[in-house]
Order: sequence, then C-alpha cells, then structure tokens
Amino acid sequence: MRRSCYCGEVTAEKVGEAVTLMGWVHRRRDHGGLIFVDLRDREGIVQVVFDPEHGVEAYETARRLRSEYVIAVRGEVRRRPPGTENVDLKTGEVEVPAVEALILNEARTPVFPLDDDRPVSEELRLTYRYLDLRRSSLQENLRIRHRGYQVVRAFCDRHGFIEVETPALTRSTPEGARDYLVPSRLYAGQFFALPQSPQLFKQLLMVAGFDRYFQIVKCFRDEDLRADRQPEFTQIDVEMSFVDREDVLGLMEELIAAIFREVKGVELHRPFPRLPYVEAMAIYGLDNPDVRFEMFLVEISDVCQETAFRPFAEALARGGQVKGIKVKGKAEAFSRKVIDDLTEFVKGFGAKGLAPFRMTKEGPQSPVAKFLDPATLEGITRRFDLKDGDLALVIGDSPMVVAEALGRLRVKLGYELGLIDEALIRPVWVTDFPLLEYSEEEKRYVAVHHPFTAPLDEDLSLFEGSPEKIRAKAYDLVINGQEVGGGSIRNHTREIQQKMFDALGFSSDQARQRFGFLLDALEFGTPPHGGIAFGFDRLIMLLTGAESIREVIAFPKTQRAQCLMTGAPTVVDTVQLKELRLKLDGS
Ligand code: AMO
Ligand code: AMP
Repeated sequence: MRRSCYCGEVTAEKVGEAVTLMGWVHRRRDHGGLIFVDLRDREGIVQVVFDPEHGVEAYETARRLRSEYVIAVRGEVRRRPPGTENVDLKTGEVEVPAVEALILNEARTPVFPLDDDRPVSEELRLTYRYLDLRRSSLQENLRIRHRGYQVVRAFCDRHGFIEVETPALTRSTPEGARDYLVPSRLYAGQFFALPQSPQLFKQLLMVAGFDRYFQIVKCFRDEDLRADRQPEFTQIDVEMSFVDREDVLGLMEELIAAIFREVKGVELHRPFPRLPYVEAMAIYGLDNPDVRFEMFLVEISDVCQETAFRPFAEALARGGQVKGIKVKGKAEAFSRKVIDDLTEFVKGFGAKGLAPFRMTKEGPQSPVAKFLDPATLEGITRRFDLKDGDLALVIGDSPMVVAEALGRLRVKLGYELGLIDEALIRPVWVTDFPLLEYSEEEKRYVAVHHPFTAPLDEDLSLFEGSPEKIRAKAYDLVINGQEVGGGSIRNHTREIQQKMFDALGFSSDQARQRFGFLLDALEFGTPPHGGIAFGFDRLIMLLTGAESIREVIAFPKTQRAQCLMTGAPTVVDTVQLKELRLKLDGS
C-alpha cells in the first residue's frame, strides 16, 4: 500500500475518493459488530470504520489493534450517518470504511495517555519525549517555531543580511554566565568553550566587510535555570555595519513585527515605545517592565523625611528610598494573612518589611501609623491619592532593593488581581543602560551588557571619576515583561575598547591574552557597527502562549540541566578520560 494523503486531509471534499492512510491508532472503540478507530498523523485525526461486511480480514486485523499501533488502511471516503458528525474535527463529517488494513508496527502501551489532555508529570513527559511530542499541543508549538524560522530567514534575506555559521568549539566569551567546556584531546589540559553567543565572531564579520550578518544559532550558558532559561537556547543573532542605534532599532522592530504578523496574525503598533533604563527602574522597578498595566511605583521619600518610623528613617539616612504601589479599591481583599504573605514575598528580594496603608471611611489606617506624625501620614495619603477602599504597599530600603521588591510585587499583583490583559502583546525598548556596575563579589566594575558595548558619546569623560554613571549605547527589547532581546552599538576603535578594558580592571596582558584577536582586528579598519540578539525560544513562547521554554523546544533539558530521555550528562569510559588526559577528583 502507498499513502495517498494525510489523515487530517480527509475532509468532505474527498467523499467518494479512495484513500490509503497511514498513521497511529489514537483511540479504538469496539462496538461489538463494528470497530471504530481514530487514526492520527501530523495533520490530524480521521475516523476509520471496520465493518466485517466491508472487509472481513480488515475487521479481524482491527480486533488486534491497540493504542499507538502504526497501521495502513484503504477505503473509500463516505459521509458519516446524519447525527454522528463531529464538529470539533476538521474531518468530522466523514469516515473511511476500511476494505484493507495492515499493521505496520505494534506499540507497547504508552506510558501516559496520548488521547486526552490530562496532566502528566513533566519528568515522565521528558523521559518519553518522543511520545510527548506526538501530542497536538507540542506538534503545534514546533510548527509555529518552524514558521518563525522561515519568517526570520525570509526577512533577513530580503533586507540583505547574509547568514554565516560561527564555531561551536571556540574560546570563552564574556556574556556573564559560566561556560560549558570541552576538553581538547590534542592539547592536553586545554579546553574549548561552547559559545555563550557568537558576539566576537559577528563583530569580526563586520571587520571582514559582510556589512549585514544574521544567524539562527545555538548558545550555551551554564547558569541557574528558570521557566524561561535553558542551558542551550537559540538566538536570532544580528550585526550591522555603518549604523547607529536608530537604524538597528528601526529595522529590528520591523523584523519582530513581521514575525508576529506572519506567524500569529497580530499587527504590532510601531514604533515601539522607548523607555530609558533609569525611568524603567523608577516607574516599574525592573529593567524588564511589563507595560500592559499601570500600578506605577510612587516615591514618597520626600514626605517621609521627618518620620520617626525607624525602617524608613534609616533607609533614607543611608541614601535609600521609600516607595510604594497603590492597589485601587481592593483593600478589603488584603487581610492580615495576605499582607503577611506579601511581606514574605518581598523579603525574598531583600526587603525588610512591607508597610500597608489603607484608606477607610474613618481615614487612613496602618500598623505603622502610630510611628508617623499626622503630617507625614497625610502626605502619604495625598501622594498616593488614596480613596476609600484603596491600599498602598510601601517599602523603605536601598534603591535597588526597593525597586526589585516593589517591581516584582507589582507584577505578582498585576496577575493575581487580573490587571493584565493577557491577550495583549506590548513591546518596549529599554535604552541607555548603565555601561558598568560595581561587583561587590569581584571588587571591580563589570560590564552590564558585555565589554564590547559602546558608551554614549556624551558620557565618555566619565571614565575618569564616575564610571558607574556612564550610559551605554545598549538596548533591550522587552515584551510583556519578558526580555526577548538585547544588543548595542560596539566599540569600533581600539582606543575606546582599551578604556573599557581598563575600567573593567583587565591589565593589558589579560586583555591581550583573552581578546588579542579582537584588539588586533580593531586596528585593521573596523567599521562602526552594532547589533542585537533575540531569544528565539522566548519569542516562540510569546507566539504560542506557552508558560515554559520547555514547551517550545523539541528536546529540552530539565530545570536541573539534564536530558531525561538520553540520560545526559553521563559518566564516560575511563578510556575516554585517559585519552583526554583527565583525572576525576577522587577516582
Ligand atoms: P544577551 O546575553 O542579552 O545578548 O542574549 C540575548 C537574548 O537571548 C535570550 N537568552 C536566553 N534564552 C533562553 N535561555 C537562556 N539561558 C538565555 N540567555 C539569554 C534572551 C536575551 O535577551 N551577544 C549579545 C547580543 C548582542 O549584543 O548583540 C547577547 O548574547 O532573550
Ligand atoms: P516591625 O517593627 O519590624 O515588626 O515592623 C512593623 C511593620 O513595618 C511591619 O508591617 C513591617 O512589615 C513593616 N516594615 C518593617 N521594615 C520595613 C521597611 N524597611 N519598609 C517597609 N515596611 C517595613
């Protein structure tokens, strides 16, 4: 038998046609004299009827069928008897009475049912990923992902970008995470690193004159995993020459808009709004703001100047802030217990407490009111514009703690109080990030983005004296509170790159040792250039509505960075270790 079409293609138009179908037994129902099989392939499901009057042998075969057997059937498409149609199925008006049937392969009982959407433990799903992938939601996600690749390639090709592959065996690049290392057999004691991104290679392609580069590329980072992070993930990586920020942002907006239009049929409003980092932190408390709802952070440091409430007074004395968010009209839903839970939540981000202020008919009420003089309390209610039934949640601490704790609290409440319209897609560019931040751990400045990012021209003089105040020509694309991309204009002169390495505390020997090839290249005629990389998996999450990055990757790792299906990582033979001249600790 030779397949004539997919199961999912057997619609009413095919009535009267002879078809040969191949696929999996999705469900089998034995009605005594008749056996019904829902036959499934990647395009969908069609009902096959086994009736001894149509084919005795086929009927006998059908009696042996079990879930997930792989079969071939032949028959002539007919309309289902009136009243038995299934409106939920594309093929629901028809059925195929089998005149011939063949078992192509048997199947063990699936370890979890594939014919319904009952929740299955993720561990089991990932162990038997090939079965999990048969389910329609994952089939759909991977096909959306496929559309995504095609749109990106077509767009980039149309706009003159050249796709170039860069090495996966390379040397460590400084994107800030831990490297995955690969030992070299020929050079004992030496290691390749898997790239955290193709950053330096794409810059060198600009030095080489390609002008516009893109790649859909795997990147590897050994970092703590979350719902939106995998140890290996995919970037849409882009670099352009002779551009400034506006050129990159303008064209990349078009790319993102094309993806949402062509994959999801959603037209994004352009230009995307811009938000300087400082404002994002002030208003949203996070550099990945969810701009689908308001509930902005409100500063009340000034009205708390004279307060006797120790936590606020101490925070302010140490250069900190007092800020809060307002929950409109829902004060009643916030019992003592709820406030206690929220307090625990913000403590997770370093806050020492959370002070609630409720407005009632009798005036403002707060457990900390007794520490506040009437003028301060009045100032707070006025600043938040508290009306009866409103609640303000206030934190006093260092600016970083206040921002993060309130920023996270804002998002949590946004979801819990239903303030977010989850159908919206709201992109925003966050710009003017700081170039450097001081690392208490390393006792030196580290790059906020990466060491190749250029400073704003007007901030160049700050290298002497206040490096932490330098703003970078860097930008992130944030959609619905998720960082989906980041990039920058690069240092294309040796001089400024050297300033940056100096600020990072690299001696010229260290800089030469790690990035000598880049420093050399900068002396051979490097064009001004810049670029960006988008987290492709995260974009697909947004396009599919998936809650976890693992739902849009065919063979993902667990939160503990393992592949449950293959069992990787695994121990290796001592022979392999010997060849690499590696000895395990304690072996
Ligand atoms: P960056 O480090 O910001 O920039 O990475 C770009 C985008 O990649 C996504 N991303 C991840 N997605 C899933 N799992 C991860 N572990 C993970 N880490 C990052 C994010 C992020 O915005 N070379 C620079 C880009 C440039 O400057 O052009 C870079 O890699 O969506
Ligand atoms: P305490 O005196 O520490 O029990 O705190 C009294 C109230 O003030 C509690 O509701 C605490 O959650 C709150 N609180 C304590 N420290 C802070 C702070 N830094 N910012 C906001 N509220 C605080």
